[in-house]
Amino acid sequence: MSERATEVEPHLFVVMGGTGDLMRRKLLPALYHLSAKGPLRGRSHVLAVARGAQFDDVRYRSSAREALAEAGLHLAHPGSAWCDDCLHYHSIGKGEPGDYRALAARVEALEREQSLPGNRVFNLALPPAAFPQAITGLGEAGLNEGRGWTRIVVEKPFGRDLDTACELNELIHHYFDESQTYRIDHYLGKDTVQNLLSFRFSNAIFESLWNRDRVESVRITVAETAGAEGRGAFYDQVGAVRDMVQNHLTQLLCVTAMELPPALEANFVRDEKAKVLRSVSPIMPGEVVFGQYSDGDLDGERVPGYRSEEGVAADSRTETYAAARVNINNWRWQGVPFYLRTGKRLPSRVTEIVVNFRCPALTCFEPFTCEFECNSMVITLQPNEGFDLYFNVKAPGSPFRLEHQRLRFRYDEAFGELPDAYKTLLLDVVRGEQTFFVRADEVELAWRIYTPLLQQPPRLEFYPAGTWGPAAADDLVADGEWYEPARQG
Ligand code: BG6
Repeated sequence: MSERATEVEPHLFVVMGGTGDLMRRKLLPALYHLSAKGPLRGRSHVLAVARGAQFDDVRYRSSAREALAEAGLHLAHPGSAWCDDCLHYHSIGKGEPGDYRALAARVEALEREQSLPGNRVFNLALPPAAFPQAITGLGEAGLNEGRGWTRIVVEKPFGRDLDTACELNELIHHYFDESQTYRIDHYLGKDTVQNLLSFRFSNAIFESLWNRDRVESVRITVAETAGAEGRGAFYDQVGAVRDMVQNHLTQLLCVTAMELPPALEANFVRDEKAKVLRSVSPIMPGEVVFGQYSDGDLDGERVPGYRSEEGVAADSRTETYAAARVNINNWRWQGVPFYLRTGKRLPSRVTEIVVNFRCPALTCFEPFTCEFECNSMVITLQPNEGFDLYFNVKAPGSPFRLEHQRLRFRYDEAFGELPDAYKTLLLDVVRGEQTFFVRADEVELAWRIYTPLLQQPPRLEFYPAGTWGPAAADDLVADGEWYEPARQG
C-alpha cells in the first residue's frame, strides 16, 4: 500500500534543477501558491539545488521573485516574505559524491535551523540524462532515508524505451521503495482528467453504456498549435511518441478504459490501469502514422517547418505527429478501436476524448429528410473544459425532420477557474497520496506497447503546419474522419 496521510506535515521540499525552466515556469508558482497562501503555509521550506555557484540564498530569492513575476504573480506581502523566509539555495557543484554529502549536511543544517522534523521531498526537475547521477548521488549520501519520510519525484520522460525505463526503475528501487516514488505525468494532475473517474464511476447512466455493446470507437486527441519553439534540441531527441503518446495519451486511454477499482486508493486505481495496458494488443504496422510539420499557415501567420526550427537537424526524421489505432483485448473493449493522435502545429489547441456510440439497429426515419447521426460524447479536457452529449431531436414544425443537437456542460460556468496540475500534484506528494502518479509497472507496460514502433517506425509523412496532420492518418479511422474540434462552441 502506498503511504497515505491527509494532514500536511512540516517538510523540506528540495528541487534538483532549481534554476531550470520547469522550476521557474511550473514548480515555483505552484509552491508559492501552496505555501505562501495555501495548505503548506508555515509547513514547507524549499531548497533549490543546481550546479551554478553564481547564486546564494539572497540572489536566488531575487531571481525567484522575477520568475514569479513572469508567471504573473505580483509578490506583495506576504508573497515576498515567503521568498525571504522559505526559499533557500544550494550549489551541487559538479555533482560528485562529495557534493552530495555536502548537500546532506546542508539539508540537516536547514532542518535544524527551521525546526523541521526530517520529512523530505526530492523533486528531480532535471533533464532525463541527469536522473541516474542524481538518484545515485542522493542514495549514496544517505538522502534516501531520513528521520521522517523521504519521497522522490521523477519528471517525464521516464526512459527512452522499455530497456532504459526498466534500468531507471531498477536504479530507483536500489535506493528508494516504490511507496517513496512519485513519477509525474502532469496530465494526471488535471482536474478534467481526474474527473474522468468520477464521471464514469458515479454516473450509472454513462457507465452502463461504456462497453463494446454500446461504444463504436473512442478517439483521443491532444492537438497543439505550438511547435518545437525553443526546445528543438531536446525535442529532436524525443519526438511525439516519447513526449506525449507513451505518457499523456496513454494515461487518458487508461482512465477512459479501466474497470471500477474497489476504492479510490492509489494501488487499486493503478492496478486497474495496469490491467488495461496488459490487455493492449501489439500495434501493427498499418495501425500507426508518423508525421512531421513542414512550413505552413497557422492563425494567419506563416510558420517555419520543423526542420528549420532552432536546434533541430536539417534532415531530422523525428515525428512531431503520431496517430495510432489501439486495440484493448479484454471483455469490455474487445473490437472497439481506441484511436490516439497528437501533433504539434495543428490548427487549434485542444485535448479531448470522443466516445462514439453505436447507431440504433434500425430507425424509422427517412435518411433523405433527416440529419440523423449516432450519439457521441465529447469530453473536452482543455481548453473550454466540459462535456457535450450529441443526440437527435425532432426539429419543430413540419415536415417531420431530425436535427443533431447537444447537451452541454462547462466547468467555468459551474466552478470558475480550474487549479493548475502541478499545484494539485505537489500537494499530493507532500500528503503522501500516490493515486495520480505513475507506478513502475505502468511505465514499463506502456513502453512495451510503443518501443516496437520506435524501433521500426512507419514512413514519415509530412504535413503543412496549420493542418490536421498527414492525410494517411484519416485512413486509420474506420469512417475516415477524425472528429474536428471546430464543431465545439
Ligand atoms: C509536455 C510536453 O509534457 O506536455 C510538451 O513535453 C507539451 O511538448 C506539453 O507541449 C503539453 O502540456 P499541456 O498541459 O499544455 O497540454
